[in-house]
Amino acid sequence: MEIVIHDSVEDMARMAAGIFEDVLKTKENPVLGLATGSSPLPIYAELVRRHKEEGLSFAHAKSFTLDEYVGLPEGHPESYQQVIRNELTTLIDIPDTHVYSPDGGLDDILTAGERYEAAITAAGGIDVQLLGIGTDGHIAFNEPGSSLQSRTRVKTLTEQTRLDNARFFNGLEEVPYHAITQGLGTILDAKHLVLIAIGKSKAEAVVSMVEGGLAASCPASVLQMHPRATVFLDREAASFLKNYEYYNLVFERKPKWQTF
Ligand code: GLP
Repeated sequence: MEIVIHDSVEDMARMAAGIFEDVLKTKENPVLGLATGSSPLPIYAELVRRHKEEGLSFAHAKSFTLDEYVGLPEGHPESYQQVIRNELTTLIDIPDTHVYSPDGGLDDILTAGERYEAAITAAGGIDVQLLGIGTDGHIAFNEPGSSLQSRTRVKTLTEQTRLDNARFFNGLEEVPYHAITQGLGTILDAKHLVLIAIGKSKAEAVVSMVEGGLAASCPASVLQMHPRATVFLDREAASFLKNYEYYNLVFERKPKWQTF
């Protein structure tokens, strides 16, 4: 795991966007893994800027969103399918038919996980997967206790997650109880994982992810198993890390020839 600790969220967004740009420029049919939440927004803003000002093209890309609430009506403004369109995909040149999300509709919910896995496989697998982290250590909606080998399936949200996400809805009672989410095994299959965490509220989850044991109680700790994981942290999110100085040293001494 490569840990990058930085004061400036903009600088981190530039570095993370650079990882996406490399994939877009080197792969014939790039497959991007997208995340919702507030943490990825600066990265999306930078990708949109590169598209508008520098001509970075997403025309041949496909995107797969990590997760979706179960049971929200089609087109609900807080459905992740809608959020990812508003925040990124309608602002760039990716064809709308290439923008995939798990199907959170109740009609076919029993087959939705398998269908999503099949769509990812048919696209050739995810080249780069963006991730945030929940205050309870979840990634996507893999709550504590999730199997480290899980695939896309329905999960029950913790009350903490519902409370954290209530800010996007008109009150806690509107937040769904269930979500369909890529599993930890699904996420581990992506070729490169890029996680971003900002602020003190993430510090405890971050220290468990980076320096705790590999455990289902901290789903984000599966990043320890991935051969290519890059973690961007601001100083607050990194503040509980024991090896803080060492991570800074590694970053300062990063050889010029070594990319993320
Ligand atoms: C939600 C999403 C996660 C996201 C998390 C943190 O629960 N399912 O993918 O990482 O929120 O969101 P934020 O970045 O807004 O703190």
